[in-house]
Amino acid sequence: MKIGIAFDLKADFDASALGAGAPDDLFEEYDSPATVEAIARVLASRGHEPLLLGGGRRFVEQLLETRPELVFNIAEGRGSRSREAHVPAVCEMLGIPCTHSDPLTMAVSLDKAMAKRVVASAGVPTPRFAAVERIEQLEALELAFPLFAKPLFEGSSMGVRRRSRCSDRSELRERVETLLSDYGEAVLVEEFCGGHEFTVAILGTGPGARVVSAMEVVPLATPVADFVYSLEVKRNPNWREEIRYDAPPRRPVREVAQIEQVALDAYRALDCRDVGRVDVRCDASGAPKFIELNPLPGLAPGWSDIALLWERIGRSYDDLILSILDGACARLRI
Ligand SMILES: Nc1ncnc2c1ncn2[C@@H]1O[C@H](COP(=O)(O)OP(=O)(O)OP(=O)(O)O)[C@@H](O)[C@H]1O
Ligand SMILES: [Mg+2]
Repeated sequence: MKIGIAFDLKADFDASALGAGAPDDLFEEYDSPATVEAIARVLASRGHEPLLLGGGRRFVEQLLETRPELVFNIAEGRGSRSREAHVPAVCEMLGIPCTHSDPLTMAVSLDKAMAKRVVASAGVPTPRFAAVERIEQLEALELAFPLFAKPLFEGSSMGVRRRSRCSDRSELRERVETLLSDYGEAVLVEEFCGGHEFTVAILGTGPGARVVSAMEVVPLATPVADFVYSLEVKRNPNWREEIRYDAPPRRPVREVAQIEQVALDAYRALDCRDVGRVDVRCDASGAPKFIELNPLPGLAPGWSDIALLWERIGRSYDDLILSILDGACARLRI
């Protein structure tokens, strides 16, 4: 099969055009050539012909020119809260089959407040929250500290730092002001869950969706009540001193089953398909809460959470990519 890969590379963006004072994580979500090459290699190993379509306008031009039979989508898109919906929307319009979720799920999941409203309405527990567009809104906030502040529609820990956990009004005000000005979008303020943290890998679609495994992110240098799986942790070259990844979690089967159920219920509520990674964190009393769903989980070999999870449960990177592909082909009947 001719399979086009849709992707956005960090190198496609001109960081120097941003000017001084811009946050250094603005392109954090975008991929490196090594990830695209790894996916292409896996597809070719199955006898497929991978085509590198790129992202944005180039993606549209290449798609029309090369007419692949399937698009393997890892493109984060550019510019808005609907950016992850761009590639699946173009494919849908042109009638070209595409892996991963449809445009609606992509857009709703990227906007964390929208995603929380949808999962909450399906009965999935999630921390209480407010979407703050103007700093004055903080006056009327009726949430219990500690609170957590993060950009409303970013991923890959953009804007997520240790100081995103705010203990009082002055810390919150300072953090929200910084986020509003750095990212130019609303800020999600939500109640902080000070318990254990997990990310759950799910494959499949609709009634066929199933949990592959949960992975616990275990803090080694910080008490769990203060821990943030932040950009500082992820970028630390000595991250092994700060965290350990346990997949499957070293916890009682019943506890893990509860966490996985929250993740699967959220995945189904958001109508996610083919693959997703759901972040779940327990509150101080141990009750698991939905934090966010990634319908386009990063696929960088040896780096992205889902790739690390796959490694730890004894499955290969090739198996990860082929599991996504096979699930999509079964769904699409191609
Ligand atoms: N309400 C919360 N309570 C406790 N911790 C939180 C909360 N929201 C976020 N965090 C912490 O911040 C981290 C990043 O938050 P989140 O997953 O929402 O951001 P992200 O940038 O979309 O993540 P990813 O890197 O998975 O794309 C979480 O893994 C968790 O450690
Ligand atoms: Mg996350």
